[in-house]
Amino acid sequence: MLSKKDLLGLYDTGAEEITEILDTADEMRAFLDGKEKKSDLLKGKTLITLFYENSTRTRTSFELAGKYLGANEVNISASSSSVQKGETLIDTGMTLDSLKIDFIAIRHPMAGAPKLLAEHVKASVLNGGDGMNEHPTQALLDMLAIRRKFGKIKGLKVAILGDIKHSRVAKSNLFGLGKLGAEVCMYSPETLMPKAIERLGAKVAKSREEALDGADAVMGLRIQLERQNGGLFPSLSEYSKFYGVNDGLLKYAKKDAIVLHPGPVNRGVELTPSLIDGEKSEILEQVTCGLAVRMALLKLLAEYREAHL
Ligand code: CP
Repeated sequence: MLSKKDLLGLYDTGAEEITEILDTADEMRAFLDGKEKKSDLLKGKTLITLFYENSTRTRTSFELAGKYLGANEVNISASSSSVQKGETLIDTGMTLDSLKIDFIAIRHPMAGAPKLLAEHVKASVLNGGDGMNEHPTQALLDMLAIRRKFGKIKGLKVAILGDIKHSRVAKSNLFGLGKLGAEVCMYSPETLMPKAIERLGAKVAKSREEALDGADAVMGLRIQLERQNGGLFPSLSEYSKFYGVNDGLLKYAKKDAIVLHPGPVNRGVELTPSLIDGEKSEILEQVTCGLAVRMALLKLLAEYREAHL
């Protein structure tokens, strides 16, 4: 059983809990391959998705996760809510809580917003990405895709290339993969690499070749144009030429290496289309794993709530 009412990040989630989430997500992944995707596991429970930033994968899969498990599901987008009239996050949260809901999945541009919300509501808060801080469900789905491919995570080398500085996905993967015993090796332009990332457990490579050398999984990260203040690299075409991953570079990785990307992809920038669509790509499987992970989290948090609240 999970030890907290919320899932805010992987920095403060232990290896045992991560493994329990992945084991449950494996069961959900099998359920998704079945004919009828309908269960009443969460009958009578209500999930709110509260997204202050755009999303396709995370929001849709939270919504479907709730629906497939029989929960009521309501979507609130910041642009059409009373947030536009100046309502604070805490007031919004307490208002939703008064509607007797059970779960809030939130995405917010400010780091720490899900934690603040969780401290003020009875509902379980699931972080769907907070600023440049964490995106725990993305890292869990990445780990699920890796574990399903190789049967383990311990001892694997995962290369992460791209905009590390602005990436909540990179940080959550570093915490989660590190706790389960993988080596995480990162590479980016110097201007997109946080100075202290090695202190958090990452290896920093000096070249793409070094990052990819012997890697089991190669993850490209999106250049986050919306979080750039400008001037961190010359142009997208130069980024692609000097920092992107292509077929030639992938030869440095292990023969059975897989290609991952959290999406949305800037096609031809972080990865060439031949890699995105190629036989080593697990990018669409990642999306399905995302649904399985979010179903698993709703189930496990519901069990926590039943036992503790
Ligand atoms: N990977 C991810 O978070 O995608 P969305 O922005 O589409 O949710």
